[in-house]
Amino acid sequence: MPTNQEVKLRGLTFKDEKLIFDWKSDEQLRELLGTTYPISELEHHKWFENKMLESKNKHFMILYNDEAVGMIGFNNVDFINRNAEIFIFIGDENYWGKGIGTQAIQELEKIAFKNMNLHMIYLHVFSFNKRATEMYKKIGFEIDGMLRESKYLNGKYYDNILMSKVSKDKEV
Ligand SMILES: CC(C)(COP(=O)(O)OP(=O)(O)OC[C@H]1O[C@@H](n2cnc3c(N)ncnc32)[C@H](O)[C@@H]1OP(=O)(O)O)[C@@H](O)C(=O)NCCC(=O)NCCS
Repeated sequence: MPTNQEVKLRGLTFKDEKLIFDWKSDEQLRELLGTTYPISELEHHKWFENKMLESKNKHFMILYNDEAVGMIGFNNVDFINRNAEIFIFIGDENYWGKGIGTQAIQELEKIAFKNMNLHMIYLHVFSFNKRATEMYKKIGFEIDGMLRESKYLNGKYYDNILMSKVSKDKEV
């Protein structure tokens, strides 16, 4: 398990655009994240520009020993009801299963609950994504419900699971 010092978050820089494009073009990652089509460079460029600017979305790079290995962040930040959707991916599968995801979410929770004063964070995960589902449970996320058989992939339907964590559920 890496120490907190080894896993850090930082804001996006222009140099990250190509790296994220390469990660998001990987078929396995696209399936886990629910991106149906291969993305074009232009689509990605527009998406990346928006992510750097939009106030309702805050995205960060995950650094492991100062190397960018993935992305994490908030979508749909709602400061009235004090909640936000979160997402995470580690781009290179060689870094999966080393505790980096757990540490990165704990860093994001500090920003959510201590800096942004959010009350609740939530996420969507497909039922075939056992690694992610188990990690979220381990960190204290609870299953709120699911959209049954709403995800179609390779000839089968899967559930889209909604999970959340309230700031008082478990201290970060
Ligand atoms: C999901 C993801 C962020 C998890 O991060 P990670 O660094 O790989 O996960 P961790 O090493 O922190 O694992 C945390 C827990 O997940 C569970 N886990 C890890 N690998 C697992 C596997 N192969 N099967 C089932 N559970 C697994 C375990 O409970 C583990 O805790 P433990 O090591 O104490 O047993 C990362 O694997 C990833 O980016 N995957 C591809 C993109 C993705 O699926 N994103 C989420 C979309 S909702």
